[in-house]
Amino acid sequence: MTLLTPDRAGGRPSPGTDPAPGLAPLTTELGILFGGDYNPEQWDPAVWREDVRLMRQAGVNLVTVGVFSWSRYEPQPGVRDFAWMDEVLDLLHAHGIAVDLATPTASPPPWLGNLHPETLPVDADGVRLGWGSRNQFSPASRVYREHALAITRDLVERYAEHPAVRMWHVGNEFGQVCHGEESAVAFRGWLRERYGSLTALNEAWGTSVWSQHYGRWEEITPPRRAPYHLNPTQVLDFRRYSSDALRSLFREQRDLIREIDPVRPVTTNFMGFFALVDYWSWAEDLDVVADDAYPDPTDPHAASTSALTHDLMRSLGRGRPWVLMEQAAGAVSWRPHNLTKSPGRSRLESLQAVARGADAICFFQWRAATKGPERFHSAMLPHAGPETRAHQGVRRLGADLARLRPVVGSRVGARVAILFDWPSWWASQGEALPTDRLDALAQLRSWYRPLWEDGVAVDVARPGQDLSGYDVVLAPQLYLLTEPAADTLREHVARGGTLVLGPFGGVADESAHVRTGRFPALLRDVVGVSGEEWVPLPDDGAEVVWAAAAPGRPGSFRAEVLGELLRSEGAEVLASFRGGHLDGAPAITRHRRPGSGAAWYVGTVPPQDALADVVRQALAEAGVEGAAPAVRLPGVEVVRRGDALFVLNHGRGTVRVRVEDLLPGSSVPPRHPGSEVVDLLTGLPPAAGEVVLAADDAVVLIERNS
Ligand code: GAL
Repeated sequence: MTLLTPDRAGGRPSPGTDPAPGLAPLTTELGILFGGDYNPEQWDPAVWREDVRLMRQAGVNLVTVGVFSWSRYEPQPGVRDFAWMDEVLDLLHAHGIAVDLATPTASPPPWLGNLHPETLPVDADGVRLGWGSRNQFSPASRVYREHALAITRDLVERYAEHPAVRMWHVGNEFGQVCHGEESAVAFRGWLRERYGSLTALNEAWGTSVWSQHYGRWEEITPPRRAPYHLNPTQVLDFRRYSSDALRSLFREQRDLIREIDPVRPVTTNFMGFFALVDYWSWAEDLDVVADDAYPDPTDPHAASTSALTHDLMRSLGRGRPWVLMEQAAGAVSWRPHNLTKSPGRSRLESLQAVARGADAICFFQWRAATKGPERFHSAMLPHAGPETRAHQGVRRLGADLARLRPVVGSRVGARVAILFDWPSWWASQGEALPTDRLDALAQLRSWYRPLWEDGVAVDVARPGQDLSGYDVVLAPQLYLLTEPAADTLREHVARGGTLVLGPFGGVADESAHVRTGRFPALLRDVVGVSGEEWVPLPDDGAEVVWAAAAPGRPGSFRAEVLGELLRSEGAEVLASFRGGHLDGAPAITRHRRPGSGAAWYVGTVPPQDALADVVRQALAEAGVEGAAPAVRLPGVEVVRRGDALFVLNHGRGTVRVRVEDLLPGSSVPPRHPGSEVVDLLTGLPPAAGEVVLAADDAVVLIERNS
């Protein structure tokens, strides 16, 4: 089969994509990777044999093993028992199943906490957490780290040459935070590096407020329970430190692995927009980006929320294919009330990840546990066995993924970037701000939603990164903005790009100090508008009136959460407040200067429709379209990945779409002999030139030369 390469809108690689091999050595050989976490230590060896047989039947070609095996490998300090893992790896290899072998460091054995209580984490109330669960370690603990490295060394030395092992997985879902004494020492070391002197620290932390001046390093602690609001910069720096502490844990295990095995890729599993770790700072450290995705089945916007998270993962890896390391086949067991999903929904969610750049689709976990806290968590193989709806669904998915081999390694190209920054998110989550209702993540998601609805490809970008390949940059929430990051936005507009900046942007510097003068301080000339007051709005919002009528658009809307007392300094006022404290003040503006691009400013939180209107207008003026502009159906997601066009129906009803609307210029039956459009999932052309998609169904169309 020869694939054509129609370079349609969105078909070129994203700016800055990285040619590093990543997953390619595995996927070139195995196709899309499919499997899940496998915990053989919970089962009798007789069950292992059944497992590998059933795995093969389901098309599983990759499992992650050993994530929580430390106490099995090292039942007493210094003792080693790897014999059982020898057998597991041999068995998997004999059945052609590749292994992502984990370092078992996420869950130390009870003896470690018992012998060395200082390895246990302490919370902000000073409570030391115990064992009997998992994750009970302090990232700063020297003793924990020594033991973690010792078991990692022995594991990697033993298995680096094992033919089953194709990838390394460090720990699990790094996210531990510790406020204890050893962490205080490490935090001080981190602060010395950052500031060099106590004078600089006192200045950055603004300790002239409330008599907080520090005279000795020893006086500095992690933020702990205190009578009233904590110092915001201390809190922000502790979040930075905590993310860096976890990163150094990851890196020391990774470096040890690379020393012994310089070839196989090393990863760890991220958790989407996880609040405790700045994944931008980690991204370069991983050979392959991997994510755990557990969309909330009660979230009406789960599909676009997942799409955004997948785009983040692809962007963290600079466009490289990534691994969906964990998801649930049905229900999880850690929410209070665990709604399940059908096999069809699980398949759709998996195909969505592939559409957005994943080359590996894995689950937590292979076989449903009968004991322990996760015994009611769904699995690829349920308690009731293989003759179940859920397991048959898993087999179907395995077969589908095998058919998607032609998309392996291909890229998603985007002309739009949406900015997201962890330190700004952290700072905006602090106490004592004008409002606690301006949620950075909620803003990001609502700005992203119209792009998702229209099939517009988007990369998530880190403020300050090179934006030169993008035509449109959306910056919904940049409370904390550094000068270099502001410069990239200025350059983007000067180059002719479009910028859309959201409310409460550029307010603070990297120390979370408020910048003086009219805001947005560093971008005032770019947006051509400036403000003097941030104005939290009452519960019923405030009226905003559009300056010009637009077909189908109401003349006004009620803005929510926050407004700003702005005045135009050259920008066109597209909408302004009417009545109340902000009467007459601009709410939405656009600044166009000869030779430059357009800088839009949204100085409030418009309801979703009005926001979508602004985003769509900015894109239209920049000439950016979706993957299939003629197709806009509620719940239908269209994504182009390389040569393939994914059409995914997240809605509740059947939809019909003409192939010509999806792939303009193509026709069914084919216009040119020998060239046809086929759905990779069925291997067939869509009947009668039309794609008919039931709820939860999908097609993956390509044009094929036979
Ligand atoms: C993840 C974790 C897995 C499993 C899963 C259950 O957070 O990495 O080990 O606990 O959740 O949903």
